[in-house]
Amino acid sequence: MTLQIESFQEYKKVYKESVEKPEKFWAAQARTFTWMKKWDKVLEWNFKKPDIKWFIGGKLNITENCLDRHLKSRGKQTALIWEPNDPSRPYQSYTYQELYEEVCRFANALKSNGIKKGDRVCFYMPMVPELAIGILACARIGAIHSVVFAGFSANALADRIKDASCKMVVCSDYNSRGAKNIPVKEIVDEALNQGCKSVETVIVHKNTGGAVKMKKNRDKWWHDVLKGQKKECKPAKMDSEDILFILYTSGSTGTPKGVVHTCGGYMVYTCFTFKNVFQYKKGDVYWCTADIGWITGHSYIVYGPLLAGATTIMFEGVPTYPDPGRFWHVCEKHRVNQFYTAPTAIRALMAQGDQWPGHYDLSSIKVLGSVGEPINSEAWHWYDEKIGKGKSPIVDTWWQTETGGILISPLPGLHKLKPCYAQLPMPGIQPCLVDAEGKEIKKKEAEGLLCIKFPWPSMIRTTYGDHERCRQVYFSTFENLYFTGDGARRDKDGHYRIIGRVDDVINVSGHRIGTAEVENAINEHAQVIESAVVGFPHDIKGQGIYAYIITDGPVADKEVFKKEVNAVVTEVIGPIAKPDRIQIVAGLPKTRSGKIMRRILRKVAAGEADQIGDVSTLLNPEVVDSLKEGQKEAL
Ligand code: WTA
Repeated sequence: MTLQIESFQEYKKVYKESVEKPEKFWAAQARTFTWMKKWDKVLEWNFKKPDIKWFIGGKLNITENCLDRHLKSRGKQTALIWEPNDPSRPYQSYTYQELYEEVCRFANALKSNGIKKGDRVCFYMPMVPELAIGILACARIGAIHSVVFAGFSANALADRIKDASCKMVVCSDYNSRGAKNIPVKEIVDEALNQGCKSVETVIVHKNTGGAVKMKKNRDKWWHDVLKGQKKECKPAKMDSEDILFILYTSGSTGTPKGVVHTCGGYMVYTCFTFKNVFQYKKGDVYWCTADIGWITGHSYIVYGPLLAGATTIMFEGVPTYPDPGRFWHVCEKHRVNQFYTAPTAIRALMAQGDQWPGHYDLSSIKVLGSVGEPINSEAWHWYDEKIGKGKSPIVDTWWQTETGGILISPLPGLHKLKPCYAQLPMPGIQPCLVDAEGKEIKKKEAEGLLCIKFPWPSMIRTTYGDHERCRQVYFSTFENLYFTGDGARRDKDGHYRIIGRVDDVINVSGHRIGTAEVENAINEHAQVIESAVVGFPHDIKGQGIYAYIITDGPVADKEVFKKEVNAVVTEVIGPIAKPDRIQIVAGLPKTRSGKIMRRILRKVAAGEADQIGDVSTLLNPEVVDSLKEGQKEAL
């Protein structure tokens, strides 16, 4: 069984061993899994290229470890509970035996539809059990899944399908989220009309049963392809370093990139961190409210919990439907023991008042988790008092799509908590702070750029189809370090507090959005000449999107213009990237070499223009005053 650390003393001991002899430490963890062939060598790495390999020569199938391995000991235990959007509908649950059979049946269906090892399958689905079953079925036969969050537009979906040359798309008919009913299949059709030539088959899961158009010879129903499929499917023999999945994420520049995770290391690390960060005990019910469209859902709804033999909940809905008590109702209903959500949800629910959690029995909760963005002090304390009743430790977990699993987090009940700090590295993780020149700051109490010095099993291997981009973004800024893109502070005891992104990525409600992507979308509007997008502090979302726009001639009706800009952004990216505020400007502050001075734009957007300082070196210092003026009337 994977090691579960039980005291702070033990954490210190294990941590020390893990950095002194990382290969020995991770080999001991890896040995607790089922391998078809043991690895020959634990690790080879080179951050320059980068070239990172774990458990070299090992053969395995992650689903054998998520499912088959548990059948004897916990075949009848609930593996997955699905809570629907509409609380009046019954919830569903799958035992490990049932989940195993469903995964095998769909894996066989994938094979019958021409999917082979190494093929890419795109999932564009709401949070229904079939999504979890679908991705596990891919892993079963060695196909690579690429899940696209179902809130992205047809355009964004098409880009991702094309980038990975997906052979198949799996979707649903409709998606019910809160009071909305989203025509998922229609969006897929629209995407496929944008030249996604690689797609041969679309499999449609009947979710709401609403009317959809099916294209002959291309589209098939989920329930039809399952007909007659056997409940057993031999797991494909995968190399440790074969690709398990691709997940697209935004960066500073350009289009989203496909982060690649591989089978062996990802398996070992997600299971290890799940067991330790949540201190999961047999019989516990664990709930992570994330969407499987993001990394949190991959690692801590599906893979980590199932690898650890846990009972994991999947929730289709939203925190405020039918009312702001929904989360707490679900916690009471399923006697949830570990609850994991994002600060933006906590802030939104906190704003609705204390009566909502007050209505429900939350006594089953043992551990609370937070992820995706820095948690502010007010939200931390509300979470602690109103949800945890002061007795459930909060784990503020810091990590990224690229890291595959949690890198910095307190261990609940073991570490003495320090509010708003992600605190200490997980075993095997060697963080450091560097200054702008890339020099490591050795002093304990410091602030700097957060980097990681040594590889860990679930780290990014490449960006799909563009290895150079992976090198350039993460490994070229500082020599021999993985650069996270985050700034952090460290206290005298070595505890880390994550401050936030230092690059041009905005974290809106815990979703990563690249400013360049939003600018490109805005620029598609016929009347826009140039735009610049920055983040600004937002009470609920953490950060909001603030767009400065130069228009071709005066805008006739500002409200209409704002609606049009929002519509373009929704079309190109999706509603999550809509600007919260728009300021029409005559010019943007630029350096003499023509670079936009985003620092100034961020200050103006935050209403902190008094902190801008000297602007005389700008090409056009006069614009700054007009920017400040205009901020008050931003749309
Ligand atoms: C931010 C989500 C502060 C950070 C798992 C990171 C956090 C980005 C925390 C990755 C945290 C994540 N405290 N900031 N506990 N967790 N972040 O790829 O800026 O969607 O770089 O992965 O979210 O976002 P991603």
